[in-house]
Amino acid sequence: MTQHVEVVAAAGVGSAAAYPIPSNCFAETVTEVKHYTDRLFKFRITRPASFRFRSGEFVMIGLPNAERPVFRAYSIASPSWDEEVEFFSIKVPDGPLTEHLQKIKVGDTVLMRKKPTGTLVNDALLPGKRLYMFSTGTGIAPFASLIRDPETYEKFDQVILTHTCREVAELEYGKELVKICNEDPLVGEFAKGRLIHYTTVTREPYPFTGRITDLMESGKLFEDLGVPPICPENDRGMICGSMAMLNDTKAILENKFGLEEGSNARPGTFVVERAFVD
Ligand code: A2P
Repeated sequence: MTQHVEVVAAAGVGSAAAYPIPSNCFAETVTEVKHYTDRLFKFRITRPASFRFRSGEFVMIGLPNAERPVFRAYSIASPSWDEEVEFFSIKVPDGPLTEHLQKIKVGDTVLMRKKPTGTLVNDALLPGKRLYMFSTGTGIAPFASLIRDPETYEKFDQVILTHTCREVAELEYGKELVKICNEDPLVGEFAKGRLIHYTTVTREPYPFTGRITDLMESGKLFEDLGVPPICPENDRGMICGSMAMLNDTKAILENKFGLEEGSNARPGTFVVERAFVD
């Protein structure tokens, strides 16, 4: 059951003071927090009945801890049909938002701006057979939403989620997610056998190692998956990671494989979203 908080309660880091809630924000209650590593955690909040979004979009998040709170863009990691709203976050030691956000507890209040937006949505892509979701680190968040949305499987025959992290432990959120997805009574039916999770690690031994960009350049990605190299007729891409990862992956999709960037206004064969919170 969802509980929509209208007024800030008086306990915990997310509800420290009686600052007024900005009129363009919802004030929501934290329902779950899970820490994966000393750098990564997820949290879930209640969902206001009037909050609508498309799977893959992002929204601005803040804490009610100042007269003018700091807001940062967060991809929504839950699908649009979910009763709650999920986020997957990095912890930056001196990050203006994440140094406080990483301390939130169940029952605390999180501010969420009312208007979601973003380009990592099914509408911004032309129809195709195979959808690649390229992610590094917390860049998996919008895909956590999209792989749990039946619409993704209505539009594509096969969904390949690639996730590259520095360390093995950082892959855990994604592994948990794919399991949830396959076992879900609604989405599991669509995802089983059609959702492929390809994980690689760059700074520790692991069965698959290396940056996704290098694995695309060398062709190892396609050999490992047992699929033909990317082509504009059949394949679509979505990219989410650091600015450097976005630029490098985008350049390969354009120059090596002939894909063209799309937008909400003009759908194309791939789309890009920055996933970097400080
Ligand atoms: P590497 O360990 O070689 O830097 P980060 O946590 O810094 O965002 O990195 C997450 C993952 O993304 C790491 O595995 C990192 O590899 C990889 N990465 C960093 N920069 C790029 C890039 N320009 N292109 C592809 N992958 C990258």
